[in-house]
Amino acid sequence: MNTTEITALKGKRKIVVLTGYDYQMARILEEAQLDMILVGDSSGMVVQGYPDTKNVTLEDMLFHTRAVARGVRKTLVVADMPIHTYDTAPQGLANAKRFLEAGAKAVKIEGNRPEVIAALLKQNIPVMGHIGLLPQTAVKSEVQGKTPEQADRLWRDALELDKLGVFSLVLECVPEWLARKISNDVKAPTIGIGAGKFCDGQVLVINDMLGFSDGPTPKFVKTYANLRSVILEAVQRFAEEIKTQTFPDKSHTYH
Ligand code: KIV
Repeated sequence: MNTTEITALKGKRKIVVLTGYDYQMARILEEAQLDMILVGDSSGMVVQGYPDTKNVTLEDMLFHTRAVARGVRKTLVVADMPIHTYDTAPQGLANAKRFLEAGAKAVKIEGNRPEVIAALLKQNIPVMGHIGLLPQTAVKSEVQGKTPEQADRLWRDALELDKLGVFSLVLECVPEWLARKISNDVKAPTIGIGAGKFCDGQVLVINDMLGFSDGPTPKFVKTYANLRSVILEAVQRFAEEIKTQTFPDKSHTYH
């Protein structure tokens, strides 16, 4: 799938996206025939253990992007540009090129940054927009667009990004009615996370939906597996077998 094909899916079927950060997971996501893998700066929390995405660096995201790109042949890889890598249009352009060199086919930019986005699009670098909750700058993780003024601002931002030519638009933590209105009013497919069922596609952080966390997850997260307990049990069995000297046994030993 390329970015033009993603845009063309609007109104035809739902678009399926998950985040990915490493090679082996990328291989699994490709086998599952996802439409896109977003190399998200949520790696800051789920891979690196920070409280938010504000410490994630360009080098961190290039590392993840290269690893994911090595794992796929067909799936569209979108790299999230981390905080302070697109403070100006020239800086954004130079760094976006590094993500393409790393194997991404598109980049995601948080917020309504028309000057940066226009500079990238002018150089044929496809851009995924992202409005609503913006973790790179948010003080609090909360639903956006609750007042009429905020909702109107988000709707206008969506229209502006759509007019610029983003190939898709993430809507994070917005009320369902607003996500529905935006999805109806823009050409670009909307990809919701905590934005209800009327978006053109959905994305979740893979570690959340696989149940890696031992803490609370946001309301919008559905866990499709409980890998934390699967891994914990396997590791405890491994430890037990070493202590009882049942591992390594004959079948795992060279003679
Ligand atoms: O970094 C990320 O995982 C994201 C998604 C939540 C959209 O930006």
